[in-house]
Amino acid sequence: MNDHPLCYPQVNQAIVSRHSFRAFTKEPVDQAQITRILNVARFSPSSTNMQPWQVAVVIGEKKRALDQLLLNAFDQNTPASPELSAYLKDWFEPYKSRRFACGTGLYEVIQIAKEDRAARVAQTRKNFEAFGAPAVLIFYMHKDLNEGSIFDMGMFYQSVMLAALAEGLETCPEASLIAYPDLLRNFLDLPQEARMLSGMALGHGDYQAPVNQFRTSREEVQAFARFYE
Ligand SMILES: Cc1cc2nc3c(=O)[nH]c(=O)nc-3n(C[C@H](O)[C@H](O)[C@H](O)COP(=O)(O)O)c2cc1C
Repeated sequence: MNDHPLCYPQVNQAIVSRHSFRAFTKEPVDQAQITRILNVARFSPSSTNMQPWQVAVVIGEKKRALDQLLLNAFDQNTPASPELSAYLKDWFEPYKSRRFACGTGLYEVIQIAKEDRAARVAQTRKNFEAFGAPAVLIFYMHKDLNEGSIFDMGMFYQSVMLAALAEGLETCPEASLIAYPDLLRNFLDLPQEARMLSGMALGHGDYQAPVNQFRTSREEVQAFARFYE
């Protein structure tokens, strides 16, 4: 790697140190900053360079209105109807245990007991105001595109998170933000063919907040890679 004419050790550092932030300061983020992030992320690769990504950026007054809309939907127990979901009906190993560890680890750090249903609901509710972040990004693509384009969208999604770090900004990838796709399409005046894939909270991370001390683990390379030589 060191012989390569272009060597970017900071890329590794960014990938390894990025983690989800679930509390943000009130400092605003402006269009220019987000445009710079997207201006980097647009260089993500995609199948036959289709560039399927589309993104709605919501800040300022409009973000506050979006918070109200999503919080109301959550408070009224509106059934979620995601158009892309990683959740399984029947969880199986090793995914079941990993998911469990992620949930329990988070609640442990913020000291919410398993039995404390009210506190858990209150924490879940924060998802729907993007954990107080000043910006929400909604990632979508044309509904008639194939699943291969979702792969491309994922690369773009990660690029946005990494490019945000270069702006001194933090993120939380958030499927919760697309729980109510029709509400979003109406609110953002998007066409029916816009398929909502995921959301993201973006802002200045609150480094004092206990919730942001939470770290997830990763499997070792040997657990997921097979080498053939
Ligand atoms: C597509 C996607 C959707 C996610 N949705 C949520 C969400 O709705 N709420 C949340 O708190 N975290 C969400 N996460 C964050 C994951 O829980 C987190 O990425 C994972 O636990 C690894 O932790 P890390 O991001 O801190 O490394 C999501 C992550 C991804 C990639």
